[in-house]
Amino acid sequence: MLILGIETSCDETSAALVADGKLIMSNVIAGQLDLLEKYGGVVPEIAARRHTELIGYVIKEAVESAGKTLADVDGVAVTSTQGLIGCLLVGVAAAKSLSYSLRVPLIGLHHIEGHIFANLLSNPQIPMPHVCLTVSGGHTMLIYVHDYCSYDLLGSTLDDAAGEAFDKIAKFLGLGFPGGPAIDKLSTKGNKEAFRFPRPLLKSGTLDFSFSGLKTAVINAFKDKVANNEVLPLEDISASFQEAVVDVLVTKALNAALLRRVPAISVTGGVSANRRLRDVFRYRCQQKGIEVFFPGLSLCTDNAAMIAAAGYARLERGEAADLNLNVFPNVPFEVQHGNPSGKNKS
Ligand code: KG4
Ligand code: ZN
Repeated sequence: MLILGIETSCDETSAALVADGKLIMSNVIAGQLDLLEKYGGVVPEIAARRHTELIGYVIKEAVESAGKTLADVDGVAVTSTQGLIGCLLVGVAAAKSLSYSLRVPLIGLHHIEGHIFANLLSNPQIPMPHVCLTVSGGHTMLIYVHDYCSYDLLGSTLDDAAGEAFDKIAKFLGLGFPGGPAIDKLSTKGNKEAFRFPRPLLKSGTLDFSFSGLKTAVINAFKDKVANNEVLPLEDISASFQEAVVDVLVTKALNAALLRRVPAISVTGGVSANRRLRDVFRYRCQQKGIEVFFPGLSLCTDNAAMIAAAGYARLERGEAADLNLNVFPNVPFEVQHGNPSGKNKS
């Protein structure tokens, strides 16, 4: 069964063909780096217009580079929930037209469910149940994955997402956008012990996160250096900030895995590309006898292959949308899937 996935929830225009929910035949991703650099971040209306310009070409490229034609497509999966409204609309409109004209089923997906499937695509051996840490520009969530398409939310951020903190600190330090890769790179040259930044909610006893206090602490440390006319050790600030985020993410994910007695952790979303996060996860999970899995680098950030894989799983369960499918820019994951009262339950 060949699923065409479409993802346009933020700044990546992506289309992919995935066979039987497992085999990636193509995964075309067109970013908007020129716009991000020009405006210092995503401007929703401009991002949506760019999607409109690109979507047709990206779908064509995804089909052709897989050596297929549209007639081979058995279903169309699209991100319809969570993202920028104008951006989501472009993907959903394209998906509906294709579903209608090809007479194949349509399925709308929550963006976060796509990220969960990104890691299952890379590592189909991840055992069920497991704990999934989704860390992206918009989300930081710990999810108990009972099985394919069955979830409980364990914890989430009370303010900024982890990737958002990376982006904001990088912007403040003048490192450009997106900030995660820039801080990841600069940190390799820095001393991670140079500043002892706070680890918010580390000992709170909950599985929730908070990154806005950490962000303020980093900005204050920077301003102190400037006020004292001291040399600005950007590498050290980056490395120490990154270490604080990594410490919190790894500790909370491990706490969740131990609490729920699962043998494995799946880490996914844009921040899961971070090298220090991967190293610390591997080391600390090995100590506790827990397996940890990461997606291949091209599947960490937003892409349509993960949407096609999630769409396949949902279609297999007999779920499909009709042409009334709408977009929902802000429906929390736990409202659409799983049990909101599961949060913080041991
Ligand atoms: O999953 P994603 O593409 O988009 C959302 O769904 O939000 O994640 C983008 C986020 C950005 O905040 C970016 O700075 C962060 O992922 N990111 C990283 C790295 N690569 C991307 N953060 C830390 N280290 C990285 N290497
Ligand atoms: Zn994402």
